[in-house]
Amino acid sequence: MSDYKNLILSREGFVATVALNRPKVLNALNLELMTELVDCLEALDQNAGVRAIVLTGNERAFAAGADIKEMADATAVEMLYRDQFARWDRIRKIKTPIIAAVSGFALGGGCELMMHCDIIIASETARIGQPEILIGVMPGAGGTQRLTRAVGKGLAMEMVLTGRQITGEEAMKAGLVNKVVPVEFYLEEAQRLARTIAEQPPVAVRLAKEAVLKSFDTTIEMGLEYERKNFYLLFASEDMREGMAAFIEKRKPEWKGK
Ligand code: CAA
Repeated sequence: MSDYKNLILSREGFVATVALNRPKVLNALNLELMTELVDCLEALDQNAGVRAIVLTGNERAFAAGADIKEMADATAVEMLYRDQFARWDRIRKIKTPIIAAVSGFALGGGCELMMHCDIIIASETARIGQPEILIGVMPGAGGTQRLTRAVGKGLAMEMVLTGRQITGEEAMKAGLVNKVVPVEFYLEEAQRLARTIAEQPPVAVRLAKEAVLKSFDTTIEMGLEYERKNFYLLFASEDMREGMAAFIEKRKPEWKGK
């Protein structure tokens, strides 16, 4: 099913799994990989047969960051024109829920990519960090903003200013990661969760995801307004009629995604 050079794409029922695949360089995120990833996620997002996406790497690395070799000689103006982070904005707009299955290194852009996902399952071997400071830069794909919102100022400052990596366990305690499981199970657990989400009415799932994300960039007043509009909008869906009728008739609902 996969025509990608740097990704392995698989499907099971309503769940698609996208695995980053540059293992020799710990899935370093070069421009080619990021272009493929964004194209792939957008294609899945347009596919009504896909209701949840699992994004993963391999046991050793989710991703060890942006490709340092690709950036090492670039000038500021070249970076400006390269505009590599524009691709990341497109990931933020994916409507289908994305679950990160993280094992090994999730560093720099790898940590930032993980934080673009909606739910994060980590293995006990996960090592998560923003080590850009150690190579003379700083996070550029949202790390200073998303990490701070997730774990609070103190830990975010420490991670960003020292480059310290935290374990999956510490990340879970800090609220960055949903669940930590033994390394044999991290992918399976993420796929299990994806299946559970894929069993829900897809239109409601999309609108609910949108509303939760809205809370990051709006006032409570505007956010509540947004939530309410999405709530009312669902009364135009067939799935809403089906869901409530099924509850009253004491049967399992059959979702149409309409
Ligand atoms: N870019 C390019 N290549 C990378 C890479 C990266 N981010 N991370 C690892 N690699 C390559 C290594 O160069 C090495 O390649 P060679 O075999 O050709 O030498 C290969 O992957 C294996 O890596 P190591 O030999 O270093 O493996 P290790 O187990 O000794 O160390 C590590 C693992 C601690 C993750 C170490 O590789 C490392 O520190 N990587 C860089 C992490 C980093 O700084 N990430 C931030 C990048 S900047 C960024 O992401 C900006 C942003 O905000 C988007």
